[in-house]
Amino acid sequence: MSKEKEQNQETAISRRSFLKGVGTGAVAASVAPTVFIDAETAAAAQTGEEINRAKIKLNINAQTYEVEVEPRMTLLSVLRDGFDTSGNRLDLTGAKPICERGECGGCTVQVDGKAVYACMMLALDAQGKQITTVEGLANGDNLHPVQEAFIQHDALMCGFCTPGFVVAAKSFLDQNPSPSHEEIKEGLAGNICRCGTYPFIFEAVKTASRKLL
Ligand code: FES
Ligand code: FES
Repeated sequence: MSKEKEQNQETAISRRSFLKGVGTGAVAASVAPTVFIDAETAAAAQTGEEINRAKIKLNINAQTYEVEVEPRMTLLSVLRDGFDTSGNRLDLTGAKPICERGECGGCTVQVDGKAVYACMMLALDAQGKQITTVEGLANGDNLHPVQEAFIQHDALMCGFCTPGFVVAAKSFLDQNPSPSHEEIKEGLAGNICRCGTYPFIFEAVKTASRKLL
């Protein structure tokens, strides 16, 4: 077998293992970034470069997780596809990988009280911070007032943007508990809803603000 053919085969194998590793859900949700990371992994495999991993602790929804991460892994990828050191998947899939380049807000989580795009933060940089995902907003069976208001106003269609909007809205109301309509629009400008449910979302945020006062 020629060297070039051997290399192509190695790349294909590493590509297959990588796709298997991240799971088909992530692949279906966002093709471009997956291909980008895959190329990186394949390149590392071709050059024989070792990918360093580090054990870190992340505080997520008031629980401490010890996870093993590669330096290039984003907080979003660890929340969704990371494993703790006992081999349990974190499986916090509320934050969505939509654009994975800081443009849509689908992956919004709170970090130390501020809304952050989890796709734009390295997991390593989240150490020592309080991370809250949409899974951490409800109190047992009691939904957070923002979640209740989204249901009350039917503020979703496909629902893919909803977890990001809910966390962004909660974070926004933490800073501005009694906003005007214009302030809500501005405050949530970092989140995109492709189904166009904005009027319902803005009404939901107004209702939530009244409930929270
Ligand atoms: S997925 Fe993070 S901003 Fe779009
Ligand atoms: S409800 Fe479909 S993208 Fe917002």
